[in-house]
Amino acid sequence: MLDSDVRCLVVVGSQWGDEGKGKLVDVLAKDADWIARYQGGANAGHTVRVGEQQYILHQIPSGILYPGKHCVLGNGMVLDPVTFFDELDELKGRGYEVEDRILISTRAQLVLAYHKLLDRAEEQSRGDAAIGTTGRGIGAAYEDKVARAGIRVADLSNRERLRELLEAGAARAQAKLRALGSDETVDVEALYDELSSLAERLLPMACDVGLALSRALDRGEKVLLEGAQGSMLDVDHGTYPFVTSSPTVAGAATTGVGLGPTVIDAVLGVVKAYTTRVGNGPLPTELPPAEADHLRELGAEYGATTGRPRRTGWFDTPVVRYAARINGLTALAVSKLDVLDTLPEIKLAVNYRLGGDTLEEFPADLSRLTELEPVYETMPGWRTSSAEARRLEDLPATARAYLDRISELTGLPIRFVSVGRRRAQIIEVGG
Ligand code: IMP
Ligand code: MG
Repeated sequence: MLDSDVRCLVVVGSQWGDEGKGKLVDVLAKDADWIARYQGGANAGHTVRVGEQQYILHQIPSGILYPGKHCVLGNGMVLDPVTFFDELDELKGRGYEVEDRILISTRAQLVLAYHKLLDRAEEQSRGDAAIGTTGRGIGAAYEDKVARAGIRVADLSNRERLRELLEAGAARAQAKLRALGSDETVDVEALYDELSSLAERLLPMACDVGLALSRALDRGEKVLLEGAQGSMLDVDHGTYPFVTSSPTVAGAATTGVGLGPTVIDAVLGVVKAYTTRVGNGPLPTELPPAEADHLRELGAEYGATTGRPRRTGWFDTPVVRYAARINGLTALAVSKLDVLDTLPEIKLAVNYRLGGDTLEEFPADLSRLTELEPVYETMPGWRTSSAEARRLEDLPATARAYLDRISELTGLPIRFVSVGRRRAQIIEVGG
């Protein structure tokens, strides 16, 4: 599945997240030695199916379900140590040997209880302008990171310093909570006790992960850098302010693990055969309610982290063209093609129009984004199951035509097509 000349591959979501990166990374992990997450935290929900079992991974890389693979949580992540161990223990309970395969960056930031309180209080204070965050404290933790008030994994090894940092962090959080009108209180002692006990388990996994990955690459081992969320949720390039708080694009993959950009050999952009978004903000190809509900049911489009119904729409070429450019995509993986199997016709946006003009590029200005109208092309559906297809030739001609059109409009080769949840339900193009 991994090209023999690719040592370091970035797998990146090229829409608004939930593109099916988890499944792709799981499949590709077979040929890799290391799988590393480089940003985000427990806001991510990566769904992976192995046999009859389904796993939803939030912080642990999707490669963990292949025995023997090393998994890395990079410095670009914000790590929630409490839910991290819930996730780890669940995997252990389901028979996976995990502890000695996970490395956590000593430079990763910690998400603490007060970050979650702040996330919720901030969302509430936004009223109608709420972002629709996952409530996992992600934004508040990144705010502390950039304000140089964060607490890192490395700080767990010095209890005296940890206490000082916690006191300062809690005081900051408490003041912000008050200002936001929240009456929640931050209990420093409880936090300190909790972290002290978690530190015993966490520190043996903590190290300089950039060094570990760099040595692995030198030995000729293969590394997958697994993105979370999607390009349109990137804090710089996404539909700001309706974005997550981290850089999600491929350019962040190496800074997020402590490597340099020249190690990247290829960037695989994962896209759904249609579009979804969970949370608020612009979604140009969003369907009207009844059709949106229909597509949501067909695709079982409910948030893997929050259970919220996802908004649904047609494939949006301008979004993916934009993603191709800002990520330097070398190929696409199209997921959930099978979800469209029963539709009589399928639309895809080829461009946008705004006030009589054609927009060539994805706009930064939110007011333009909410006003633009997608220009659609309509293609016939195939109305047969694609779930058993294992080669491109197994797909109906109309489904192949749809994929060809996506490839033509985005200017990218399609390397993989996923036609179901299972590992085997994947078409490797030219493989
Ligand atoms: P936050 O990352 O929890 O701050 O949420 C900010 C925005 O990103 C909201 O619209 C969330 O729904 C969205 N978001 C965060 N993580 C994911 C994800 O893994 N998949 C899809 N959307 C996400
Ligand atoms: Mg998800």
